[in-house]
Amino acid sequence: ARVDKAGHKHFMAKEIAEQPSVIGAALSHYLSADGRNIVLPDTMPDFATISRLTMVACGTAYYACLTAKYWFERLAGLPVEVDIASEFRYREPPITPGTLALFVSQSGETADTLAALRYCTDRVDTILSVVNVAESSIARESDLALPILAGAEIGVASTKAFTCQLTVLLLLALRAAHARGQIDDDRLADILSSLRALPSTLNTAMERNTQIRIVARQLSTSENALFLGRGLMYPLALEGALKLKEISYIHAEAYASGELKHGPIALIDDTMPVIVMAPCDALFDKTVSNMQEVMARGGRILLISDARGIATAGDGVWQTVSMPDIDPILSPILYALPAQLLAYHTAVAKGTDVDQPRNLAKSVTVE
Ligand code: G6P
Repeated sequence: ARVDKAGHKHFMAKEIAEQPSVIGAALSHYLSADGRNIVLPDTMPDFATISRLTMVACGTAYYACLTAKYWFERLAGLPVEVDIASEFRYREPPITPGTLALFVSQSGETADTLAALRYCTDRVDTILSVVNVAESSIARESDLALPILAGAEIGVASTKAFTCQLTVLLLLALRAAHARGQIDDDRLADILSSLRALPSTLNTAMERNTQIRIVARQLSTSENALFLGRGLMYPLALEGALKLKEISYIHAEAYASGELKHGPIALIDDTMPVIVMAPCDALFDKTVSNMQEVMARGGRILLISDARGIATAGDGVWQTVSMPDIDPILSPILYALPAQLLAYHTAVAKGTDVDQPRNLAKSVTVE
């Protein structure tokens, strides 16, 4: 079937807007009819018997894995290693018994990820993959391939595939937490209920579109941008910076907020916008002191947070974008939306080729 832009100016805009519905589709696929149980194939390995999870991917899928590391460790107490496929395959890492290897790829055709998978084939009991294209090479060569059900993604910069990857990875982490006796029934029920509400929470967040477009117009005159995040928001900061550089060609990098003092603070002046993605969670106070360090040096902060975070720390910052409240464990999925919209509108303001950015390919099937 031919995919069209459905009235949007770009595929990327369409794919950003589709996220509530495709995440909804992924949730209906992986949850029981009453929404209270996670349904995975019978051939799914038992997380109770696994001692280590190794996740490998490239690009945006790699940042999905980095996010999932926090989930698997925090929720399931499972040690996790995450690696970039091109590093993993040539480093020839030792694989210890009891390792589950998990490969994440939208296309299922990325050459380095496929090679990393093949490296693991005879070294682990089970190869699991999380893919968008169900008939891809990575899916075929896995023992079990879980679809993310995002539908065709045409924009080169990945958006809906990222949030669907996150959704499926969170469900896997919850399954692992349950299998390993690390989560009680109430907490599990709470998270599942927040997940079921996620499509509607994302729709609420979409109401910030116009505001983000206005901020982006100002951002589009910058030559550099710095993204900061902590904990679960750190991988998302990396993804936000990747999105911005991919399509707007603004040099962007991301740091864990706590690393600010170890280098990037030297770059701060009034020409350096600093995008802070920080819901008001347990680590928020620490982020607030990082923001003060930035502001004391004339840095301009765009704070993306919830109402409580903005009430606590919004004074004196350059711009704020207010997100709906959400269980902090789900925040990376929700906060992906403003990060994507910011990159999108910045690129549109600059007039770049949003869906086909220069020098980039949707699927990197050669080394
Ligand atoms: C390319 C694309 C990215 C994507 C990466 C990994 O760089 O431009 O959007 O994240 O490949 O692709 P995969 O299909 O393996 O997820």
